[in-house]
Amino acid sequence: MTKKIGFIVGSLREGSYNKKVAQTFENLFPETVEVGYLEIGQLPFYNEDLDTEGNVPQTWTDFRNEAASYDGFVFFTPEYNRSVPAVLKNAIDVGSRPYGASIWDGKPALVVSTSIGAIAGFGANHHLRQSLAFLNMPTLQQPEAYIGNVSNLLEETGEFPEGTVGFFQTITDAYVAFFNKLTN
Ligand code: FNR
Repeated sequence: MTKKIGFIVGSLREGSYNKKVAQTFENLFPETVEVGYLEIGQLPFYNEDLDTEGNVPQTWTDFRNEAASYDGFVFFTPEYNRSVPAVLKNAIDVGSRPYGASIWDGKPALVVSTSIGAIAGFGANHHLRQSLAFLNMPTLQQPEAYIGNVSNLLEETGEFPEGTVGFFQTITDAYVAFFNKLTN
């Protein structure tokens, strides 16, 4: 069966740079894997009181079921105040519960941080890695995927230049090799 990799974009913004980066990465994955996007903006904030029989929001259940069908995840994160946006952290929290039924457990991850700033979302990238370590998600360490000054990188056509796409391809190839080793 074809293995599935889930893309999760931590920005809800229509013109999101992180979304653009994700769309560019999408085309670089080999046909041996299937890539799909998981929506996270519809998820109510995690509240343990709701995670009880008869009270679980349908959107949480749908998200958990869908996410469970993926074999690995690529997180595209902006940086909000030197950390991950709340919407992304919330999706991680929703997927991690109920206790003992985390949909993240053991699944290989890639973290790509993108920012209009020069630090390239380093703070968000590493805060996210802290959660993924706890969630037992083996995460690609090298090459690191920091996309800084993103608004200057894009060409007038709205696309990334060849050199940047080549860098994205290097990251994708390393992640796919890592993913294959861990899921085969
Ligand atoms: C930001 N931005 C930002 N950038 C950064 O490099 N470090 C930061 O800590 C922050 N903090 C921050 C907080 C909040 C609340 C907002 C809305 C924005 C700027 C951020 O990089 C920029 O808005 C990006 O364009 C967000 O990514 P998307 O939406 O384009 O994918």
